[in-house]
Amino acid sequence: MTNTLPTGPIREEVQAHRGSSALAPENTIAAFRRAAEDGAKWVELDVALNADGTLIVIHDDTVDRTTNGTGNLGALSTADIQTLGGGSWFGAEFAGEKIPTLDEVIVALGEFGLNINVEIKQHPHHQSVQQLTSAVAAALAKRPAHMQIMISSFDPDCLKGMHKLMPELELAMLWGRIPDDWEALLAAIPATTIHAHFKGLSIGLLEQTSAKGIKVRAWTSNDTVELASFWRAGLTGVITDDPGIYLK
Ligand code: G3P
Ligand code: MG
Repeated sequence: MTNTLPTGPIREEVQAHRGSSALAPENTIAAFRRAAEDGAKWVELDVALNADGTLIVIHDDTVDRTTNGTGNLGALSTADIQTLGGGSWFGAEFAGEKIPTLDEVIVALGEFGLNINVEIKQHPHHQSVQQLTSAVAAALAKRPAHMQIMISSFDPDCLKGMHKLMPELELAMLWGRIPDDWEALLAAIPATTIHAHFKGLSIGLLEQTSAKGIKVRAWTSNDTVELASFWRAGLTGVITDDPGIYLK
């Protein structure tokens, strides 16, 4: 009898974390282009609001780590952010990269043929969940018809807000370690998916989630050995800085 248990993810279940961020500056067009070149079909990216309420694709709530400037996102306008270099910190060849807006990224990813896992970040400068989720929904409404979207967040209120606005989207709750009452917490959103740190996974847990039809993706795994025992237990997908290692 042929063994049909999975030994790795299918192509559609490999998400490039902040783009191919091991190989290009995270959350830039260069990192997303590299993900497409690496064969990925999905990218994960982080979004937050700046001072004028525009959605910016950036992980931190300051520009200090990933640009040649400084400052809190809540004090910077879109024009301010456009003056910053977003790639030279990673490598001289990326000096022309900028921190993009979500609108700009949606246009580029439509051209690259990529789908998006939009991770909504909650930061102290944000005024309300409603402002944040309304902005995300407005940006996503402008996407090309062929582009698939899912939403993830560490903040269940962001997921609840997105469910009200775009109930058709897959929603993923982000946890480091999956809490014991995961099923009730997902149902309260409602969400169908968990994105968990790979060190918080176990075979027993994955057998439970897969038996209940809950998808689980692991972040951020940059070594295929880390997840090798989890696929046959029901792990759905992986979020990785280097999608090429899972797509060989
Ligand atoms: O979506 C998984 C991962 O991106 C969550 O953590 O801090 O890299 O946004 P972080
Ligand atoms: Mg993220």
